[in-house]
Amino acid sequence: MVKIYPSLLSADFLNLKAELEALEQAGVDGVHFDVMDGQFVPNISIGLPILEAVNAGTDLTIDVHLMIEDPENFIPEFAAKGADMISVHAEATPHIHRAIQLIHAHGAKAGVVINPGTPVAMIEPILHDVDYVLIMTVNPGFGGQAFISQNIDKVSALHAYKEKHDLDFDIEVDGGINEVTAEQCVNAGATMLVTGSYFFKQTDYGKVVSALKAQDN
Ligand code: DX5
Ligand code: ZN
Repeated sequence: MVKIYPSLLSADFLNLKAELEALEQAGVDGVHFDVMDGQFVPNISIGLPILEAVNAGTDLTIDVHLMIEDPENFIPEFAAKGADMISVHAEATPHIHRAIQLIHAHGAKAGVVINPGTPVAMIEPILHDVDYVLIMTVNPGFGGQAFISQNIDKVSALHAYKEKHDLDFDIEVDGGINEVTAEQCVNAGATMLVTGSYFFKQTDYGKVVSALKAQDN
C-alpha cells in the first residue's frame, strides 16, 4: 500500500508537537522534512535544530529532503540529528554516488531526487544503490505549487526500469499532491506520496490518509 509522508513545511510550527501527535494518530508512514538553503532553491526553510526537536517529539520515520548545494557537507549532521532517510538532488552535487554512500555510512536510508527538468536517465547508474527515488512534481522551493503532469511519464519510466532490473527502491513523488494527482502517480508506480498544503488544510488528517491510501488498489 502506498506510503504517506506529510511535508512539515505546511504544518503549524507553533504547534508542532500537537501536529506530530495528530499525524501519528492519523496513521501516516512518516514525515517529510524540507531543508532549503537559499542557494540551490530560492527559499530558506528549516534545518538542524528543528530536526532535533522533531526527532525528540515523535517516533515517526523522518524523511529529510535536502534542497541544498554541496549536500555532502551536511549529511553526517542530519543523520546525527535524527534523519532516518536522506535524499539529495542529483543536480546539487557532481558526486551523487559518493553522497549516497555517505548517507548509508551514517546509517540512514538513501534517496536521490530529480527536478522536473532532469531526465531519469541521469540517475540510472545509481539506481542499484538507492533505497528510494524522489521525482519532483513541482520545481523545488515552495509549498502550494501546481502539479506538473509531465512528471508522471518519469514515474512510469522509473517503474519500468525497476521491474526490468528487479529492483525494490521506493518511488516518491513530491509537489502538488492531492487526491487527484495522487491517483495518477500511484497508477504510474509511485509508492510514497509527499503532501504538504493539501494535507494540512484538512481538518481530519485520518480521513485524508485513508483517502490517499485508497488510490492504491
Ligand atoms: C517543495 C517541497 C515539498 C513541499 C510540498 O520544494 O519539496 O515537499 O512541501 O508541498 P505541496 O504538497 O504543497 O506542493
Ligand atoms: Zn520535499
